[in-house]
Amino acid sequence: MRTQVAIVGGGPSGLLLGQLLHRAGIDTVVLERRSRDYVLSRVRAGVLETGLVDLMHEAGVGERMDREGFIHDGTLIANGDEQFRIDFHRLTGRHVMVYGQTEVTRDLYEARDAAGALTLHDCRGVKPHDLDTAAPFVTFLRDGAVHRLDCDFVAGCDGYHGPCRQEIPTEVRREYEKTYPFGWLGVLSETPPVSDELIYANSARGFALCSMRNATLSRYYIQCDLSDSPDDWTDDMFWEELKRRIPAEAAERLETGPSIEKSIAPLRSFVCEPMRWGRLFLCGDAAHIVPPTGAKGLNTAASDVHYLSNALKRFYHDRDDEGLERYSETALARIWKTERFSWWFSSLMHRYPDQSAFDLRIQQAELAFLRDNEAAQKAMAESYVGLPY
Ligand code: FAD
Ligand code: DHB
Repeated sequence: MRTQVAIVGGGPSGLLLGQLLHRAGIDTVVLERRSRDYVLSRVRAGVLETGLVDLMHEAGVGERMDREGFIHDGTLIANGDEQFRIDFHRLTGRHVMVYGQTEVTRDLYEARDAAGALTLHDCRGVKPHDLDTAAPFVTFLRDGAVHRLDCDFVAGCDGYHGPCRQEIPTEVRREYEKTYPFGWLGVLSETPPVSDELIYANSARGFALCSMRNATLSRYYIQCDLSDSPDDWTDDMFWEELKRRIPAEAAERLETGPSIEKSIAPLRSFVCEPMRWGRLFLCGDAAHIVPPTGAKGLNTAASDVHYLSNALKRFYHDRDDEGLERYSETALARIWKTERFSWWFSSLMHRYPDQSAFDLRIQQAELAFLRDNEAAQKAMAESYVGLPY
């Protein structure tokens, strides 16, 4: 088999890249390790920056999102029983869109099918070769046979655990990492959201987040111990703990119900540099992870895809490789700013096991500063709605 761009990974990065390239007349094959049903069963991000919303339109898949997504002009920050609002619209003139990652992925799969572009699921042992030559190729095992896909470029869109990043030689690759001493326990429930806008809550018992997918589907998270397992938490225990961490008036309004999904995610900050090695280009979680506070994971994946798809279009249409040469530097400049925001917002909202009385006072002062200071709110809002590409 031969294609122009071999895309390893059929998550949102790989599918969005594939769709943008297809619209530009560039041929791709997506190699995905899992089944489509498995990919679509993963409940993940829910808040899209306008940059990603625009990319969905550019990819020709914005119609259902426009119809079913919800525009949010602000968010609520709770601190114990107090609450204040960050008004994105007034502070930045912009907003975010609530539309689940599962739906983004579903829309992209459907568009890929309709375009007749090739997506191969259940590919095992995917391995890129000869990345430092002009003729790279990818081998993989599928239906009991070894296959070879020749290409001009390999896009590593294979997530944090994927094989592509490991192809960058260790002498060249630098990895920066911070782990956090807690996780997030997330629950999806078929109940109306407690609030029209998201509530990020700092409480003496730890962080909580009230989010949503639509008018009848809610997504809630609480900070938990890293050693916890979802089975340790019955639904009743989860709801009781959530109620104790959000303002009393919200807790009284909260409608509870059986969870339809319950999972724990550890929190991590991670960046791999460079994001390019020869003819390999990394996008999304393959190159970087942010802690989920502020909903930046999927959105940083989208900005990589924006830079890489433009660089590839320039290469194929104008025979100009400057975009590709500068890809890593350009993508990383924005990623580090988003890493900073996600780290800062996580530090502001969580309780840390080793937090001293001094640290707690500083955290409270930072929350009060954000509540009272318009410049601080504007800085927060600019990052939340998404830094420019
Ligand atoms: P992924 O979605 O990880 O996709 C990578 C794809 O590559 C997968 O489909 C995988 O099966 C495939 N793959 C892996 N290895 C191979 C291989 N060897 N061969 C072929 N294919 C392979 N972000 C937020 O903004 N808000 C959230 O609430 C949020 N919650 C999250 C919860 C969890 C549990 C996780 C893991 C992430 C969460 N994120 C969240 C982050 C967000 O979901 C990711 O940033 C986003 O999915 C990145 O997209 P991606 O396509 O780069 O990577
Ligand atoms: C969601 C997740 C986040 O990490 C966040 O900051 C906001 C919303 C969500 O899953 O809805």
